[in-house]
Amino acid sequence: MAEYLVELYVAQGDHAAAQHHVAVAEQAGADLTREGRAVRYLQSFFVPEDETCFLLYEADSVDLVTEAVGRAGLRLEHVSAATTSVAGAQETPDGTTKGTSMTSTTTTRPDLTELRDKQQKVWSSGDYNKIAALTVPVSEHLVDHVGVSPTDRVLDVATGTGHVALAAARRSAESVGIDYVPGLLDIARRRAEAEDLVVELAEADAERLPYDDASFDVVMSAIGVMFAADHDTAARELVRVTRPGGRIGLASWTPEGFVGGILRTVGAHVSPPPGAQPATRWGTEEVVADLLGDGVHEVRSVTATVTQRFTDGAGFADLFLTYYGPTFAAAGRLDEEGRAALRADLVALAESHDRGEGDGLVCEWEYRIVTATRR
Ligand SMILES: C[S@@+](CC[C@H](N)C(=O)[O-])C[C@H]1O[C@@H](n2cnc3c(N)ncnc32)[C@H](O)[C@@H]1O
Repeated sequence: MAEYLVELYVAQGDHAAAQHHVAVAEQAGADLTREGRAVRYLQSFFVPEDETCFLLYEADSVDLVTEAVGRAGLRLEHVSAATTSVAGAQETPDGTTKGTSMTSTTTTRPDLTELRDKQQKVWSSGDYNKIAALTVPVSEHLVDHVGVSPTDRVLDVATGTGHVALAAARRSAESVGIDYVPGLLDIARRRAEAEDLVVELAEADAERLPYDDASFDVVMSAIGVMFAADHDTAARELVRVTRPGGRIGLASWTPEGFVGGILRTVGAHVSPPPGAQPATRWGTEEVVADLLGDGVHEVRSVTATVTQRFTDGAGFADLFLTYYGPTFAAAGRLDEEGRAALRADLVALAESHDRGEGDGLVCEWEYRIVTATRR
């Protein structure tokens, strides 16, 4: 495999952004390596005076390196074949030794409690209920795919306005949903009431589920747990509360799909908080198998899309900039010019996915359902 050097712009002195870039690049590289792809993250270093963070990879092709950087949600300035003087040394491409090595041994992960609080505020911002209906088909697919029976006790982690919990209750299961945004739970309660369904809804953190070990037959999450701050802890909790022989089913946006594109676009305009892991890692079977660990077996996945319709690219961008927490919060951190640039990129993203049927903008949003059985 050849070595490639990726250059990323990082504002002078912004060590937090550089650390974040390194953490997500390392994570995405490790994920791709685990998936059996011929790419491996090696090391990074930051040269503040050049406003550049360098990432060193070895890979079979430059395309795999570009994919790794894209999956990390980073916008690369330049990628080139690395000279041997770079490998294994803390040197810049011109051979000098300026810069700070940022290999995994020198990168410390920031406090994830702080990150969790930040993300809770992001999901409380905008008005997720205004767009929640877009993903009803994802939840219905998840519940049908996992299979829920009237004797099952079911947990919907990060239920939001309750799609999966309500679907389980409609199938007569004993249904429980948790989320850390009280306003969304209120809407879930009103929906349950309107349909005369019994659903227990509780404010809780996916990383600290307030339930005993082995207390559910089925544990699911539709594009929810993927947004937890600490992926390993959240995955451990899913496994812990599932009874032996019980099933876990998770639907997540894929890194390559439309929503992966939204999150990458946001990340290119506003650096994600230090320590944030790319949510779309959960859209890969190998990563979820690894996160769930030895406590599960029979890990399988299916990939599907949900069709979305908007008036046009601008209609999509304005809807998401107004209501979807991650885009709404990012826009709030930009000045007018920055917001216009983010909006333009979101419009372009939507237009690039348009099926071109002529009547409004029609696009497919890809997600992956991963299922597993608790040992
Ligand atoms: C994209 S929404 C999906 C909501 C719902 N599952 C659905 O299908 O509509 C993501 C949800 O994850 C919730 N969430 C993210 N991290 C969480 C955590 N650590 N604990 C509880 N809820 C979390 C957010 O509050 C939000 O409701």
